Amino acid sequence: MKVLVVGSGAREHALVWKCVQSELVERVYCAPGNGGTGGMARNVAIGAADVVRIVDFAKRERLGLVILGPEAAVDAGVGDALRNAGFNVFGPNRGAGRIESSKSFAKALMKRADIPTAAFEVFTQPAPARDWARERGGRVAVKADGLARGKGVIVCTTIAESDAAIDAMLVESRFGRSGATIVVEDLLEGPELTILGVTDGKDLVALAPSRDFKRAHEADGGPNTGGMGAYSPPKAVDDAVVREVVDRVLRPAVLELSSGGDEFRGVLYAGMMLTAAGMRTIEFNARFGDPEAQVVLPRLQTDFVALALAAAKGTLADFPDLRWSPQPCVGVVVASANYPDDAMVKTGLQIRGLAEMPPGVLIFHAGTRFEPGRGLVTDGGRVVTSVALGDTVAQARDKALAGARKVRFDGAFFRSDIAQEAV
Ligand code: AMP
Ligand code: GLY
Repeated sequence: MKVLVVGSGAREHALVWKCVQSELVERVYCAPGNGGTGGMARNVAIGAADVVRIVDFAKRERLGLVILGPEAAVDAGVGDALRNAGFNVFGPNRGAGRIESSKSFAKALMKRADIPTAAFEVFTQPAPARDWARERGGRVAVKADGLARGKGVIVCTTIAESDAAIDAMLVESRFGRSGATIVVEDLLEGPELTILGVTDGKDLVALAPSRDFKRAHEADGGPNTGGMGAYSPPKAVDDAVVREVVDRVLRPAVLELSSGGDEFRGVLYAGMMLTAAGMRTIEFNARFGDPEAQVVLPRLQTDFVALALAAAKGTLADFPDLRWSPQPCVGVVVASANYPDDAMVKTGLQIRGLAEMPPGVLIFHAGTRFEPGRGLVTDGGRVVTSVALGDTVAQARDKALAGARKVRFDGAFFRSDIAQEAV
């Protein structure tokens, strides 16, 4: 079978790496891919949201499975168009993808399905939004309704902050159309947790739990990013916690989507916060997390392509239990200077050290590209994820950090405290 992975991040490199290992697969393509996927799959120069050309490519190559990596592909309707043309797609249609692309849609769904989440209200006018936040002493999260590449949430602890956040979105339009509608919700506190559920719209199987580190700098300082590292399984998260997320959050969400005519086939991401009052859902994503995929997929011993195909075809009920490595996995993102301020990120910088990796380190590329004559150069904010399994979290972490240190380009930085909490 020929498989296409859509996207160009380290998440997609990890997916390509997994697909290449499948006995079901004769060839893997990645659109558009990056400097790393090009080494183990064939990159095709088609953008992740280029619906027409992806469908043409699928027809020409008679693809057996298409895996959607990023939300941009889901939101562009790549899944809809491929399904209409008769292809197997791992990734939801646009309608089901609203669980990520519209926070107000997601919150309304959570309310209907009685899924635990923070109390909230939806606003398009600043004055009532400010009043609602003021009643809570400004201790709220202000969220742009639409997609904002992981940067559309402002966490506030004072009225001055909540006023400013609401004005930034509803008055100054700093998030464009994404922020023309906002969700304001109660501030939650506690450790975060990611649970990914593979689903065919009826059945759902949870993948191994993970934790993402979202802030740019050590000790959770600096701005929110797409994610600076992750590990699996997170400290103090056992099977009972995972089961509770499946039973109270993921399954009800999938069933609620299906009952509204939006069958979700792919991976549903539940971003949870474990508060003193119990677990609460912070967000859903309609795809794998990045960098969560990079630390969850290496632990999966079941053939991922077989699993994705079962979800795509609606036959998950007959799929055998997943097998997992008992070894924990840690991933450390190496980023460009100034990330996540994309306007200030320089690209085209030569990358050195990738050939010097200690044994057992996996390097998943994100912002890299191959430039004839110069070799590998940087091509974005997050450049690679250095990943390692180990007998203990400490061992996996030491290896992943050793890998990250080897990756050298001007201004490279990474967080050295990823997974330290579990050591
Ligand atoms: P999101 O884009 O929804 O993943 O939010 C980004 C980050 O903002 C989350 O990972 C949390 O760290 C934080 N966040 C979101 N909602 C809340 C909330 N209600 N209370 C506290 N922090 C939040
Ligand atoms: N790492 C968070 C996300 O993928 O949304």
